[in-house]
Amino acid sequence: MWRIIVAGMFLLFASNVAIAAVKAPPKEMSKETRECVKCHKKDNPGIVQQWGSSAHYGANVGCYECHAADPKDPDAYIHDDKKVKKHISIIVSPKDCANCHEKAATEFVESHHAKGGRIIGSLDNLLAEVVEGNNSLKTPAFPNGVSPAAVSGCWQCHGSQVKVIGDGQLDPATWPNTGIGRINPDGSEGSCSACHSRHKFSIAQARNPENCGKCHMGPDHPQIEIYEESKHGIAFHANKDEMNLDSPKWIVGEDYTCLLYTSDAADDFAVV
Ligand code: HEC
Ligand code: HEC
Ligand code: HEC
Ligand code: HEC
Ligand code: HEC
Ligand code: HEC
Repeated sequence: MWRIIVAGMFLLFASNVAIAAVKAPPKEMSKETRECVKCHKKDNPGIVQQWGSSAHYGANVGCYECHAADPKDPDAYIHDDKKVKKHISIIVSPKDCANCHEKAATEFVESHHAKGGRIIGSLDNLLAEVVEGNNSLKTPAFPNGVSPAAVSGCWQCHGSQVKVIGDGQLDPATWPNTGIGRINPDGSEGSCSACHSRHKFSIAQARNPENCGKCHMGPDHPQIEIYEESKHGIAFHANKDEMNLDSPKWIVGEDYTCLLYTSDAADDFAVV
């Protein structure tokens, strides 16, 4: 019996090591990224500005470090054949983020969330497409049409199956999309940008309840409405300034307090 326990402990230890924290960041900004920034500063000043004030910029993680693609991926393409001449993809999938954030990516990929796009092939979805609308939306990937109700409804929360229409370009019925279980061209499931809005990837924003309420709302799943009107939601909004939302570590009792209790009551609570 003890052998099994010891072997189990080693396994636990081994898997903890396997999902180590963030990989060491590059020492300086890559030459590829500098080229991306030169052009995109003119064409997308908003993106460059958001990225410029992010933790990634501070850690020399640039456009190329995220958008670089395996040439074998169906959505990989050479977007700039003069300066960079390397494959990139528009989508930065959980597989790409996993290059540096193995632990966060492993937790997410194993979650129910990452599988949220599997409803697309289900009878529920078929029913929605038939009952809610006609197949009037025609795009290159759907020459016979697809239901606008599915595209702008179900797929926006659950995720679309993103279709590539050639040379790295993505079908407009399936992209843009930040559904939680998006099925990506590289075969991975999910989208980190469902909660971590590009290009700031702010941890404070991810911690705000509204971030979850984007999908957990409405009559079928009114979690955000219930929360906002509860003592928890009221206390959160009334005391948001004390919540330390920017703190890298965020543990209740250390980085913020449970706001439902006064400090005296919290002391009593701790004694119990
Ligand atoms: C020579 C200028 C130039 C360089 C260098 C450049 N880009 Fe772009 N990029 C553009 C322009 C212009 C567009 C918008 C037009 C288009 O879609 O091609 C664009 C579009 C994009 C898109 C969106 C495509 C879409 O269809 O939505 C991504 C993603 C992108 N660039 C990433 C990068 C990355 C990453 C790099 C560096 C590896 C880079 N770009 C280098 C000029 C450039
Ligand atoms: C931390 C990773 C990361 C970095 C760094 C990064 N991007 Fe992105 N980028 C993303 C993600 C994620 C998306 C959304 C696609 C998705 O959901 O997979 C995206 C989307 C885009 C798009 C598509 C247009 C849009 O916003 O929908 C463009 C263009 C783009 N990025 C350009 C850039 C440029 C230029 C830089 C450098 C200044 C850059 N990115 C840096 C992750 C990154
Ligand atoms: C090339 C490596 C690399 C890639 C690729 C990368 N990151 Fe990061 N990320 C980092 C580093 C380094 C930091 C800074 C860590 C620190 O400051 O402790 C960071 C920080 C973060 C943070 C914390 C931000 C904050 O406000 O403190 C989030 C969230 C994050 N990354 C999400 C993502 C997501 C989502 C993707 C994919 C779309 C991604 N990263 C891709 C290396 C990377
Ligand atoms: C506003 C975002 C949103 C939209 C739009 C949406 N869903 Fe959902 N869906 C959710 C959330 C959130 C859950 C999880 C609910 C829960 O656990 O309480 C869910 C759960 C489900 C489930 C149960 C999944 C399971 O594993 O048990 C099915 C099936 C489903 N949705 C189908 C659909 C279909 C079909 C459509 C389009 C007609 C749709 N949804 C539109 C957010 C959405
Ligand atoms: C359902 C929403 C959601 C999704 C999807 C999500 N995250 Fe997060 N993420 C969060 C929240 C909330 C936090 C803040 C956690 C805390 O308070 O410590 C966070 C924290 C982080 C951090 C910083 C803290 C740490 O654990 O190192 C990183 C890095 C990160 N996420 C990466 C990712 C990556 C990579 C993906 C996709 C594979 C992803 N996240 C998908 C909600 C999400
Ligand atoms: C982009 C849409 C989206 C966002 C954002 C989102 N969720 Fe979800 N969530 C879903 C969907 C869809 C499901 C149902 C997945 C399924 O059952 O197939 C779900 C399921 C869940 C479940 C049930 C998981 C299980 O194992 O049964 C929990 C709990 C949950 N979400 C919490 C959160 C929290 C907390 C946040 C914010 C940090 C969040 N979600 C953000 C769409 C979303």
